[in-house]
Amino acid sequence: MRVHLLDITSDDLPLIEKWLRADHVRSVWGDPDENLRLLSEPAANGAWRAIIEADGRKVGVVLWQHPSREELDAAGLTDIPTGGTSSWCASDRRIETMTELGPRYWEIFLELFESLPRQGPGNRACAERALGLCRELKRFPTILDLGCGVGGQTLQLAEMTSGTIVAVDNHRPSIERLRAALAERELSGRVSAIVADMADPKQQPESFDLIWSEGALYSVGLRTALDVCYGLLRPSGYLAFTDAVWRKENPPAELKAAFDLEYPTMGSADDDVAAIQNSGFELIGRFTLPDEAWWDDFYSPMEARISRLRGTYAADREALAILDQLAEEPELHRRYSEFYAYEFFVARRPAIAC
Ligand SMILES: C[S@@+](CC[C@H](N)C(=O)[O-])C[C@H]1O[C@@H](n2cnc3c(N)ncnc32)[C@H](O)[C@@H]1O
Repeated sequence: MRVHLLDITSDDLPLIEKWLRADHVRSVWGDPDENLRLLSEPAANGAWRAIIEADGRKVGVVLWQHPSREELDAAGLTDIPTGGTSSWCASDRRIETMTELGPRYWEIFLELFESLPRQGPGNRACAERALGLCRELKRFPTILDLGCGVGGQTLQLAEMTSGTIVAVDNHRPSIERLRAALAERELSGRVSAIVADMADPKQQPESFDLIWSEGALYSVGLRTALDVCYGLLRPSGYLAFTDAVWRKENPPAELKAAFDLEYPTMGSADDDVAAIQNSGFELIGRFTLPDEAWWDDFYSPMEARISRLRGTYAADREALAILDQLAEEPELHRRYSEFYAYEFFVARRPAIAC
């Protein structure tokens, strides 16, 4: 699809009026006459608007701005950090409200996440179970860990196998942490940690017996990741990965909105199985991560760390608002965990391509 943003002209106003009067827009944006009047006038300083054109058809209008702290407070949005972009979009079918997160958010996000044992759900028992499904794995396998983060699962893999491991992440500080942990455990000879893009990790084709990835493949799109893994595995090589999946249809709007920000294309476990098989893999097994795999190494340390950071930033309103936002993730899990899960999939590249 080709999408363009066009300047709004007076010719667009009848179409915009139609969108503004639609129930789904009116219920969120309020008075259509007032909004039409505002959109007919030039945008205020620091605010922009445009018509969205998709494949030559005008499908919506988008407004965006970088609000100041005073503007956010005046609008009652005291929990939204400054430095970001907010945008509103209305069209004939949908309405979206987006907040692109600013640099301060990412600074605190990283301060929180990098200090955790893992950056996503998972634990040693699940890794052992998945590894157990790789029944014909060589005694000294070559392993690639994609999106390794600070290496919680990499270190466990190093203990559970006798092979060599290449651990890849595109976030340098995580790789530096992992390198320090490897040096401390005298594992640097057997495990290397490199900064690279998992979509093109610059490894020899068909050079791995096992590719491992916990909670990371979705970042480059599952289908792309599966193709990359297929090419890097030797024939008969295994792929073990976890992915977030919907367990029920029609999740609550609040939950759907949270996942839409991070993983808008998330599907069901059956969708992942179809993607695995369509990429040429044979599915060996799958299981759902138990609740303790969300808490022991992930949400419990996250909540403890948030509480410590609240003390560190006690006089910093913006940081406290960001920490409140970050604290919502484990809360959402407490409320809605029956709607979604992390699934471990173990697949195998056939010995001979079908
Ligand atoms: C949810 S975290 C999971 C980390 C770790 N596997 C774990 O379970 O603790 C996802 C990781 O993927 C990494 N990542 C995202 N996109 C990537 C890419 N294109 N190439 C390499 N790593 C990527 C992130 O930096 C992050 O460390």
